[in-house]
Amino acid sequence: MKKRLLVTTGGGDCPGLNAVIRAIVKRAAQEDNWEVLGSIDAFNGILLDPMHLVELTEERVAGIHVKGGTIIGTTNRGGPFEWPVKNADGSWTLIDRSDDLMSRLRYQNIDAVINIGGDGSQRISQGLFEKGCPIIGVPKTIDNDLSKTDFTFGFQTAVDVATDAVDKLVTTAASHHRILVLEVMGRYAGWIALHAAIAGGAEVCLIPEIPYSIAKIMESLHNRIHHGSGFAIIVIAEGAKPLEGEMQYSESVEPGAMRIKLGGAGLRLSQELKDAGCSIDIRETILGHLQRGGRPCAFDRVLASQFGVKAFELVLQQKWGYMVSYKHPNIVSVPIIEAIRKYNLIELHSDLVQTARGLGINLGD
Ligand code: F6P
Repeated sequence: MKKRLLVTTGGGDCPGLNAVIRAIVKRAAQEDNWEVLGSIDAFNGILLDPMHLVELTEERVAGIHVKGGTIIGTTNRGGPFEWPVKNADGSWTLIDRSDDLMSRLRYQNIDAVINIGGDGSQRISQGLFEKGCPIIGVPKTIDNDLSKTDFTFGFQTAVDVATDAVDKLVTTAASHHRILVLEVMGRYAGWIALHAAIAGGAEVCLIPEIPYSIAKIMESLHNRIHHGSGFAIIVIAEGAKPLEGEMQYSESVEPGAMRIKLGGAGLRLSQELKDAGCSIDIRETILGHLQRGGRPCAFDRVLASQFGVKAFELVLQQKWGYMVSYKHPNIVSVPIIEAIRKYNLIELHSDLVQTARGLGINLGD
């Protein structure tokens, strides 16, 4: 009987997920004793009745590396440790179904699991590993905020999308002599914002790692508008916050969903600038899920393919509880627990920050 590998994609989607799936399947096909299954919508495919698993053959994954999204679906709600159950009164309770998941994996004769996902999904991987699950992690997030890997796939594609947006905003801002604010994703880390600000040539870039002062931003906008080009571009990460302020978010009431839904940092900033006396026209753009959809760029396809091949090789080595990782120029493996210990935030003394400052980009401090 063939050995059975289960692949899951969890959390928010990200360009490159399909390239990982294809690479796993193609590498597994080089061994003659493995078959690969996909669980639809993360672990829901195992936990729902009837189960929803699909066979992932070479034919099924042919050509999918160029496609966005994930052919096996995903969810960022719930999961085996926090499964939402509706009560008689309409309220929801989150229950732990991880033991149930483990017995369902045994029932399906699953010999190994590869879980592709970000911080939340890798916490699930670690929890399942501690219960004895033969599991390997593959890091994914456009935010690039997972530790112990130089980059996650999806990030470069998101940076390309954000940079393209800056390039477009520059021409209209220059024509109208306006300040244009671009809000990009980046919950805890400002990687997308800072890369797009440098690549696109923004005047101001606000990231979660550096709480901003409106007075400092006003100073540089004044110089730029009155003694410079007459327009300005501000890139702000969704998780950026003013000095002594909080992230801009709404509380989600959906069962098992991420409790905090970010959004509105750009709008809040433009109001703060107006309140501080900014007399130039300001407009805001929220880039949102455009950063997550669509085709992965070449870099992300390569990184995702490397992750997929390496993940299957870790399965062959039975390196359970490990996550594949990019340590330039190599693809290595690290214990999942190390990757989820803390977020990968931008270091304030890093060369990237120095580069931004050297270009005269105001970081709000
Ligand atoms: O993947 C991370 C992320 O892109 C964050 O930057 C953002 O806050 C979140 O996902 C939004 O997720 P969703 O809209 O799918 O709930």
